[in-house]
Amino acid sequence: MAKVSVIGAGNVGATCAYTLLKNNVADIALIDVVDGLAKGKALDMMQAGAIEGYDKTITGSTDYGTAAGSDIVVITAGLARQPGMSRTDLIDKNAAIMKSVISHVVGVAPEALILVVSNPVDILAYLAWKVSGYAPNRVFGMSGVLDSARYKYFISQALNVPMSSVEGMVIGAHGDSMMPVVSLTMVNGKPLTDLLSDEKIREVIDKTKHGGAEIVSYLKTGSAFYAPGASSAHMVDVIVSSKSGSKSGSKSGSKSDKKDEIVPCSVYAHGQYGIDGFYIGLPARLGANGVEEIVEIPLTDEEREELLESAASAKSSLDDVQEIIGG
Ligand code: NAI
Ligand code: 2OP
Repeated sequence: MAKVSVIGAGNVGATCAYTLLKNNVADIALIDVVDGLAKGKALDMMQAGAIEGYDKTITGSTDYGTAAGSDIVVITAGLARQPGMSRTDLIDKNAAIMKSVISHVVGVAPEALILVVSNPVDILAYLAWKVSGYAPNRVFGMSGVLDSARYKYFISQALNVPMSSVEGMVIGAHGDSMMPVVSLTMVNGKPLTDLLSDEKIREVIDKTKHGGAEIVSYLKTGSAFYAPGASSAHMVDVIVSSKSGSKSGSKSGSKSDKKDEIVPCSVYAHGQYGIDGFYIGLPARLGANGVEEIVEIPLTDEEREELLESAASAKSSLDDVQEIIGG
């Protein structure tokens, strides 16, 4: 039986928590700095349980004591983008929030895995790893599950097929240089490159890269949260499924499917794909130890080059904020 804490009871945190409850994945502690916010949302979610039929529980609080003994801590605390802002524009405020959150988390949940969602995610995952002092496999970020979901959605729209018929993955930095792995993308078992022209594929890639900004432009006061909340919950579900052996309480898919799933996420690369010493989105196997393995999938020469360009951009963004994040 797993215990998950979600820090930040805003749009993404609450959606993540509700998805976990609806899929019966884990008992949850929801924490927010705003008095009453987490408590009120948790109570509301408990009352929804009588309708939705879940057995797991959620408590909401400002008190990190409620996160004691967590197996996984999901960090969504921080400011979200407004129109005209890039993810990296959030660094000043969100780095300070991340440092404060991590100092609490290491005190109450020293054995937990940390899933960073707050933006800029590749930089804040690095910061969370540094400040926590945990092994890098125990700290990782949510990016590729969301970007891949958007990619699959736009492909399904372009081909007028169900999203479930599309297999594809986005890796690289969570920003404009993200990289859909076109060469391995399949639709109903057929290569995407046989189904869409180069021009249409470029359009899909462009929409994927700007999927987050498009939603910000409509919402105006914040950024996407349904798909980000579901993506974060999915990563937790994969880990809980792998920890608990067969037949979890999860209703969101078969255990063995999730256990073997390769999940693109922001991980600390140590030599894989020729990338070393910082966080970037790569395919990984998640399990009881967090990132069990960074998986090297076969890329074309062009894709390998593009991934290295994305890595150079992630590294340069990290170097630019060294003073803010403190080393
Ligand atoms: P939101 O504004 O709805 O919620 C953020 C919550 O964090 C607020 O309730 C706030 O009170 C809380 N908070 C602030 N400081 C805190 C602290 N020190 N301790 C505990 N709670 C604190 O924002 P939303 O939409 O939920 O987004 C949260 C973060 O997730 C943003 O940084 C956003 O950019 C990021 N995000 C990342 C995505 C990704 O793909 N990695 C996707 C979507 C959002
Ligand atoms: C997104 O991609 C803001 O990172 C967030 O929607």
